[in-house]
Amino acid sequence: MAFYPLVRPFVFVLEAERAHRLSLAGLGALSATGDAETFDPVLRTRVANLDFANPIGLAAGYDKDATAPGQLLGLGFGFVEVGTLTPLPQAGNPRPRLFRLVEDRAVINRMGFNNGGQQAALKRLARPRRKGIVGVNIGANKDASDRIADYVTGVKAMADVASYLTVNISSPNTPGLRSLQDKGALDDLLARVMEARGPLGPPVFLKVAPDLEPADIDDIAQVATSHHVDALIVSNTTISRPPLKSTHAGESGGLSGAPLKSLAHQRLRDFRKATGGSIPLIGVGGIASAEDAYDRIRAGASLIQLYSALVYEGPGLARRIADGLKALLERDGFANVAQAVGSE
Ligand SMILES: Cc1cc2nc3c(=O)[nH]c(=O)nc-3n(C[C@H](O)[C@H](O)[C@H](O)COP(=O)(O)O)c2cc1C
Repeated sequence: MAFYPLVRPFVFVLEAERAHRLSLAGLGALSATGDAETFDPVLRTRVANLDFANPIGLAAGYDKDATAPGQLLGLGFGFVEVGTLTPLPQAGNPRPRLFRLVEDRAVINRMGFNNGGQQAALKRLARPRRKGIVGVNIGANKDASDRIADYVTGVKAMADVASYLTVNISSPNTPGLRSLQDKGALDDLLARVMEARGPLGPPVFLKVAPDLEPADIDDIAQVATSHHVDALIVSNTTISRPPLKSTHAGESGGLSGAPLKSLAHQRLRDFRKATGGSIPLIGVGGIASAEDAYDRIRAGASLIQLYSALVYEGPGLARRIADGLKALLERDGFANVAQAVGSE
């Protein structure tokens, strides 16, 4: 069980992006069960007409190209989100572009949607029909002349292989992308995305930034509700810089991990208030333990996701959180996750 603390020093000697690639290659070499079956019924939950074996998801950005979703489900995640995938392959920003802030248990990245494109991922996702929930996060190419058209392309390309689609308009590393969160642009984007998805397509989730003013939050909540968005993912990385100790603190890009926790938690509360509970929320940002997951659920999250904590806690984290969350739900007398949502 306590395997990762032993190997972590060796992993941390490697440059961060290289360590990431190696971890993904290692996972890819394992055989995929693709199942998320062995969880207590108390952890089961239904959101957007999907049945989750547990509410703990892997956030977008770890497996951008959908190379090992089955193996990742095998680590104990209740769902895995692949991407961000853009219509055309793109290289992303020059390296180095990924930094561990060890003293802060944080990460800064300015990857810039490096990915092999939707068509390559489509082939991989189409191969085995898996039972587990695999969401596909879609974005726009950096040089797209019509960014909204890129989301429409993504919906059409990926709908058949996605348990759900995430419209990501909150990456700080594609200049101007987050302006799609502005009311008029968002209204236009969601109208076109929902039309492309049609009545039979998968649920559509919208992923937002944590760096929003109260008026933006109200606008997004209103537009998302009017277009019947199936869930809001709160949130992506932050461009803000809370006090940090690490030498990499000055790197540009999106900050994630422990220093994002309180901001992401507050934004979840804000969206809960703004939506009046009418849209399911997925809490992301700085979640590293069962207590963090439980707190986010009680603040209104129907599901949670994580990424950065994996770097520090290792591949056993999803299962540990699942076990701990079961104990916390039972301690407080909840029969299931749904009962605890928003109970704080
Ligand atoms: C290296 C890295 C790459 C990421 N890439 C993406 C991405 O492609 N699309 C996306 O929606 N979010 C991406 N994210 C954001 C995460 O999905 C998540 O929202 C954020 O890191 C906060 O969660 P955490 O504190 O648990 O890491 C990325 C995060 C990291 C650290």
